[in-house]
Amino acid sequence: MFVCVCKAVSDRQIRRDIREEGVTSLRELARLRGVGTCCGKCVPQARRLLDETLEQH
Ligand code: FES
Repeated sequence: MFVCVCKAVSDRQIRRDIREEGVTSLRELARLRGVGTCCGKCVPQARRLLDETLEQH
């Protein structure tokens, strides 16, 4: 499922970036994938996913 439609970034991709690229913030995700840098609608969902995934690690 796409979290960021503008940049075609899925929840799986974001989880992988957290796990394998060491992403810990929305800013890093924006730099790496462009998440939230276009329309910005995905920001709340991306933040939630980031928080949830980081809690599990
Ligand atoms: Fe992510 Fe538009 S959906 S910037």
